[in-house]
Amino acid sequence: MSNRHAGDDVLPGCGKNVSNHGIMDDSKHFPIAQPNGEVMSQKVEDEADILQEMKGILESSNSDGTSLVTLLQAVQRHFGYLPREAMIEVAREKGVSPAAVFGVASFYNQFRMIPPGKYPVKMCMGTACHIKGGNAILKVWETKLGIREGEVTEDRLYSLDRVACVGCCAMAPVAVVGEVVHGNMMPTTVDGVMLAVELAEKEEQKQEGESSGQQEEAAQ
Ligand code: FES
Repeated sequence: MSNRHAGDDVLPGCGKNVSNHGIMDDSKHFPIAQPNGEVMSQKVEDEADILQEMKGILESSNSDGTSLVTLLQAVQRHFGYLPREAMIEVAREKGVSPAAVFGVASFYNQFRMIPPGKYPVKMCMGTACHIKGGNAILKVWETKLGIREGEVTEDRLYSLDRVACVGCCAMAPVAVVGEVVHGNMMPTTVDGVMLAVELAEKEEQKQEGESSGQQEEAAQ
């Protein structure tokens, strides 16, 4: 495994959004495949917020002249998935039934209808990554996380998807976890990536605890 580090140059063939830290600024923009789960009733965003944000999406998408698929892509780019309420809004906008929109969304692999985990794992299955054993690494992810591609772990920490080329073919096989690009993945390196996530999670919780403690002290 080799991650991107400060000071690294962007590798040939690697997306321009990969920063020195391996941050992919538009990771939500990757096509996401295989929505194996069903539409969830659980909401990660308030319905009113979704409707409000949908107004902006529909306005900026020139929805009259935009195909249903393009509109759904815009919605997914924004939310990271297709919220039920958003699909209903799309149906209203396009003058078709919600069932028709759900039908289109579930037909195409690129759409997901469940919210991604806090750390979405996107295993690249582009040609270079496929040739270099991406499929075997995807299987390891499935085993370690206890979920299949397209699913989310019970604690909602991870989701797992296969994606098309993320533009870092020189580092194949590649997994993007959260916003970090992990190149030259091997089956044995999945544990290390998960450990890094756990440490980041613990650090975040520690900082949250400290900041809420400071707020309580200031309020006294
Ligand atoms: S095929 Fe290009 S990054 Fe995986």
